[in-house]
Amino acid sequence: MIAVVPGSFDPLTMGHLDIIRRAAVMYERVVVGVGQNSTKSYLFAPPERLELAAAACSDLENVEVRGFEGLLVDFCRTVGAQAIVKGARTGTDFDNELLMARMNWALTGVETVILPAAAAWGHVSSTLVRQISLLGGDVTDYVPPQVWHRLQERAPR
Ligand code: PNS
Repeated sequence: MIAVVPGSFDPLTMGHLDIIRRAAVMYERVVVGVGQNSTKSYLFAPPERLELAAAACSDLENVEVRGFEGLLVDFCRTVGAQAIVKGARTGTDFDNELLMARMNWALTGVETVILPAAAAWGHVSSTLVRQISLLGGDVTDYVPPQVWHRLQERAPR
C-alpha cells in the first residue's frame, strides 16, 4: 500500500520526520506531499519547503517527497495512495484531523490514519520553531540539520 504524509512543512520538524519514518515502516511506499494551506502565510516558499523535506528524508528508501497544489484527495489519486497518514499531538490536533479525515473520506473514500505524536515531540510545531528561531532562540533539538542551517540564515544577527 502507498500512503501520503501531507503537510505544509514550514519547515519540516523532528515531529514530522518521526511520523514520516513510522509511516515508512507501515507502508510499502510513502509520498510526502508538500502542500498549501490557504489560511496560512509561509516563511519558506514551496520549492524551499520541498527541498528541505527531501533532504531530511534522503536516507529513507521507500519515501519520496513531492509538491502538490489543489485538493489532497486528488494528489492521493495521482500517486495511487490508499491512505493518508497524519500525526496528532493533542486533542485539538485530533479534532482538526478528524474533520479533515471525514471530509477526505467523503470526497473519495481515501482513509486517514492518525498516529499519536511521540511524547518527545509533543511540544514541537513549525509555528513555534519559526517564532523561536526568528527571535534568536535555540531550535537545534527540534529540526533536522539542513532546516537548522536555513533557519539560521533567516534569523536576525
Ligand atoms: O501542515 P498543515 O499546514 O496542517 O498542512 C495542511 C495541508 C496542506 C495538508 C492541508 O491544508 C491540505 O490538505 N491542503 C490541500 C487542500 C485540501 O485538500 N483541502 C481540504 C482538506 S479536507
